Formats: sequence, C-alpha cells, structure tokens
Amino acid sequence: MEREKILVNCALPYANGPLHLGHIAGAYLGADIFVRFNRMIGKEVLFISGSDEYGTPITISAEKSHVTPQEIADKFHNMQIQTFNSLDINFDEFTRTSDPDHDIDVDEFFLNLLEKNYLVKRYMVSPFCRTLNKFMPDRYIEGTCPYCGYNGARGDQCDNCGRTLDPIELINPVCNLIHEKPVFRVTEHFFLTLDSLQKELSDYIDSKTYWKQNVLKFTRNFINEGLHPRAITRDLDWGVKIPISGYENKKIYVWFEALIGYITGARVYSMNIGKPDYWKNFWMDKNVKSYYFIGKDNIPFHTIIWPAMLLAHGEYNLPYNVPANEYLRFEGEKFSKSRGIGFTADEMLKFVDKNSLRYYMASILPETGDSDFSLHEFQYKVNSELVDKYGNYIYRVESFIEKNGLSPHASKSLDKTDSEIMNLLRSKFSEYCAEIENLHIKRGLSVWLELVMVANNYFTEAAPWKLIKEDMNKLNEKLYIALKIGQYLTAMLYPYIPSASINIMESLGIILIPGESTFSKILDNNDFHINKGNIPFEKIDLTNPNVLDIQLSTVISVEDHPSADSLYVIKVKGDKVYTSVSDLKKYYSREALVGRKVLILTNLEPATIRGIKSQCLIMTVKNNNSVELLTANGIDGEPVTAENYIYNGEGTINYKEFQKMEFSVSDYHLLVKLGEHRYPLMVNGLHINLSTEMLDNVVIK
Ligand code: MF3
Ligand code: ZN
Repeated sequence: MEREKILVNCALPYANGPLHLGHIAGAYLGADIFVRFNRMIGKEVLFISGSDEYGTPITISAEKSHVTPQEIADKFHNMQIQTFNSLDINFDEFTRTSDPDHDIDVDEFFLNLLEKNYLVKRYMVSPFCRTLNKFMPDRYIEGTCPYCGYNGARGDQCDNCGRTLDPIELINPVCNLIHEKPVFRVTEHFFLTLDSLQKELSDYIDSKTYWKQNVLKFTRNFINEGLHPRAITRDLDWGVKIPISGYENKKIYVWFEALIGYITGARVYSMNIGKPDYWKNFWMDKNVKSYYFIGKDNIPFHTIIWPAMLLAHGEYNLPYNVPANEYLRFEGEKFSKSRGIGFTADEMLKFVDKNSLRYYMASILPETGDSDFSLHEFQYKVNSELVDKYGNYIYRVESFIEKNGLSPHASKSLDKTDSEIMNLLRSKFSEYCAEIENLHIKRGLSVWLELVMVANNYFTEAAPWKLIKEDMNKLNEKLYIALKIGQYLTAMLYPYIPSASINIMESLGIILIPGESTFSKILDNNDFHINKGNIPFEKIDLTNPNVLDIQLSTVISVEDHPSADSLYVIKVKGDKVYTSVSDLKKYYSREALVGRKVLILTNLEPATIRGIKSQCLIMTVKNNNSVELLTANGIDGEPVTAENYIYNGEGTINYKEFQKMEFSVSDYHLLVKLGEHRYPLMVNGLHINLSTEMLDNVVIK
C-alpha cells in the first residue's frame, strides 16, 4: 500500500539575525518533532523551510552595518542552517528566496494571477520621504495604531493587536530613518483582489473547525471585517523583479513572494533528488495534508493571503492546518536583542547540549498561550526528569542485566502485573500518538513522562536483586518487561530528542534505528543485547553563565576606613552609587583613583568589613606582587558581557564561588571560563585589555 503523504512547511525566517530561542519554540522545534513523529508512524513527509531574504528588515540591517542586503542575507542564511543542524532540526530543503529558482516560481505565480485578473493595476498613495527623495517601505513608518491605540505600530503591522496595516492608516506617522513626517504620494501598483475571493475564503475557513481556537478567531475576524484588494508590489530596489516590462523600479512585496518559497523549496528538493516532479505529489494531490508551523504574528499571511493566492492560482492545495504558536518569554520578559534579554539558540548551546535544550523547550512550547523559558526550571526539568528519572531507569535496568551476565528474552506467559503493564504501555502509546497527531506536542511529552514514573515504580517493585536469588524464570520475565518499557520510552522520545534516543536504542542493543524504522517495527522488537556504555545523560549546570554581574563605573570618592588602617572606603558610580571596602590602599593613592574608570562586580554577597558594608568589588588582576585595575571606556553602568552573554539572573554569588571561577589572559584580553569554554569579557563590544600577557588562571580580586 502506498504510504500517506504530508507536507510540513515552516515559516521562512528572515535572514537578518541569529535565531533566538523564541523562534525555535515558536515554529521550528514543534515542526521537527511533528515531522519525526509522522515518519515514525509510517508517513511520507516533505519538510520545507528557507531564508526569507527580501523585505525591509534586511535592508534596515544592511543600512545599519553598511553592507549590501545580500551580504546580510548570505551571512545569516548560513548561520541559520548551522543553528538548525546543531539542534537536530533537519529540513528536507532549506531554500532561499534569493535563489533564481524562486524567481521562476514567483514569475509563474504572478503571471498566472495577472492573466486571471486576480492581480489588477491600481493607483495608491504611499509614504514618500522628501529629504531622501524616495518612497519609504511601510515598515519604516511608525505611528499610533488606529485600531488599538498602540504607539509603536509600524506601517505594515501593529505588534500589539496583530492587525495588518496600511501606513496611511497610522496616526502621527514618522519615518524611523530620519524621523520626518512622510508625505503620501500617488504610485501605481499591482493589487491582489482579495475581495473577489471573500466567499471562497469564508467557506474555506468554515471548513476548518479543527483549527486552533486562536487561529480561527483571528482569521474569522479578519474576514468579517471585509476583504479589500491588497498591494503586492512596492517601490523598492531589494526584492523579486516584476516579470513584465515598465515596472523596473518596483519589486514584488516580500509577503507575496516569500510564501511562494514553500513551493520553491519543494521543487528544488525534487530536482536535487533527481525526481523533478516529486513535489507535485505534495502540492497537487488533494488527499495530501499540509501543515504550516508559524508564530502568531504570521497568522493572517498563512490563513488568508496564502489561501487566497492558492485559490486564485487554482492548481495547488490550500493549508490543511496552521498551528500557530503564541510567544515564548524569557524569565518573564519579552525576548529583546537590544535589551539583552534572552539567548540565541547558539549562545544557549554553548552551555547545554542539544538534547537537553530540545527536551526543555518541547515541554514549554507556547501552544495554547505564552510560555516562559526559565533557566532554573530548565535545569530542574532536565536534571530531574530526563537524567534522574528516565536516564537512571535505563541505567538501572542495563547495569543489572550486564552486571549479572543475564540475557532476558520474551516470556511465554506473563503474570497479571506484567500483562497490565503491557496494556498500559500500549494505551499510553496510543494516547501519545493521538496528542501529537492533534498537534498537542507538549502533551505528547507529558504522556511520556507519566510512563517514566511507571517505569521506575515497576523496577523497584519487581526487585530483581531479590528474584535473582529466588526465581530465575520470574527474573527473566521482569527484566524482559523492564526492557520493553525502556524500548517504548526510548522510541517515544525519538521525535523530541532524536540523537539521545538513537544512542540509547543502541545501548539497549536494538539494531533498529528510530527515524529509519517505524514505531511499529521498533516496538515489535523482542530482542535485546545490552551494550550499556555510559550513563545516557549528564546533568546540566546553568549556574555558571548566571553568576557575574560586572559593570563599568567611575570612582567618585576615596576615604580612609575609620577603623582599618590598610583599607579604603571607595564610592563608585555605575548604574547607581555603590560603596566598596577595598585594600587598594597598598597600591594606589587617593588621587590615582578618583575619577578613574573601574570595573565592579555588583552581585557578590555584600560583606560588612570592620563595620562598613561593602556592596561591590572593584576588580583587579593580580600579577606577582603588583596589581592592575580592570578598566574600559564607556558609560557608567554599562554591562560587561562574556562575548554575547549578558547577565540575566538575579541573586548573588558568594566570595568562595567567585574565587573558584577561572579567569585567564590571552592576547592581552581578559577571558572567563563558563561551562566548557573561555569567553572574552567585553564592554560595548570591546575587549577588556590588560598589560599582562599569557597568564593562566590569573587571580581576580
Ligand atoms: N520571514 C517571516 C518572519 O520571520 C516569515 C515568512 S513566512 C513565509 O516573520 F511564508 F512568507 F515565508
Ligand atoms: Zn493595534
């Protein structure tokens, strides 16, 4: 029988920055889990994403860093591929919208719609900057949202209420390049006649009773407000060319062409595997379901614009489901690059392994509402659930068998407990499958975790260490069931943390590899040859990246300590004024200190030294008998980062812990060891320089 096919598409990320954890949780991780799961139940899946390289976010970045938009796109396209690889998120094709093959698809789409009068020429007014003498992209215009009153709405969309906007609707518009009020000028563009598709779109949405409530509600409101023709070209240089002459100064709007990237990805994949028509199976066979994993800010484009384009085109399948996620927050706050809140995926992977990261993120996917990424919870869940409960279960079973030289095999008849356990495994497995098929990916993992609890209880109650002295047949039966439980757990874990699952499958001596073999093949296996090796997981320690809150400050006063001859009482101004009791008196006169820029550690547990409370440590590096102040240029209160890492935690570090931290100097730069790596300490993107060279484990006081 032919396998069922499904198409899984994932929002094409803008190639204008590194992916942060919010992106991963918003779309990509859930999609990858869903794809792996579907392959495990025997479906044929095509999994597509790619870089969204046009659009003003990229021109804005390019303007800021004085390079071409293509240079920005190249850099981040490659970086994103790396990031996805390092997280085991494996698309069949990760295409890019600057690929010439994409132009071919966009041209075809455009001309097709033009011919059928779904694209019409109209005049419109657009924001125009008189100083720069050009039309301004919608996104460059900011103002107040006419619907919700939000002040930072952009000309394309309001981030507060999610509505798509026209810049002329904004109240008090200004352009964010030179903060001038734009004028609105007439310009000719192509419009997609959404209004002519109103009825068909309504019917389409009405058939989507199984969609997530938030997605449905948003889409219904949008349609009920009435659909209007929408401009799909812009006065821009950076974009896909319009495939008819006379429009050389205009380009196709990014939100029209990027969506067609889903088709490009599928088509390019097909060419690469030497079956150029393979993609048509997924796009043209009406029985094939397509899923779009996106963040909630992308909803209208995927539930209205894209279906409208596809309806107009007529040959391709419309989205079957669009399981848009809500937002991930970081320690209760919105991710923000500029404020240093949250981590990129690459930063996080410097401290933890991909399996731990996938596991935790899968357990907090913002499927039904916003969710929070917390370092504390991350460490707790990985260490207690993945390592202590699951990892340790596998370890206990395998070591017992190995240590005693046993080889448990299928038992002819099972006692009551064991047949009940087998039934429970089967029913929990079905429950797990039903959850994931219904796109409750987070809940699938909870079902798994319930079984982990069952597993540990089973082993403890079976007490093989007693049976080994009493009843070898029973012992065989119990260990065999223990292995079956391990097999279920490990197979079910595969979609979530594939690499770890494959390793553990090997340690159980099961030659079938998840991903290549389906659940049913693996779960039917009754043949185990334990090959334990190592403890499957290691605990993670996230206390390290969280410990240092160092900032730049200026010394404002230096007094003698009233009751200690060798000490100063120094006041410094960072983000606020701090008092420090310091032994710098031996090395520096008062005059040499006042006015000087120094680095202070402000989250050391405050200590009272001879009656005066010291709130921070003025940092110095000690070299033989001399002492050098750590210093840098910049504004008081400027944070010191370890490469990109910015202090994100609360809480304090005590002096002992601080002394255990390893610092070193390389190439005159101060480095700190965090996790496995050493990172340069930086202020404002610049290294902290020392006059000393090549000191290992320098002492910082
Ligand atoms: N680049 C957009 C974003 O990151 C998503 C584009 S999805 C596509 O928000 F379908 F248009 F490609
Ligand atoms: Zn709004």
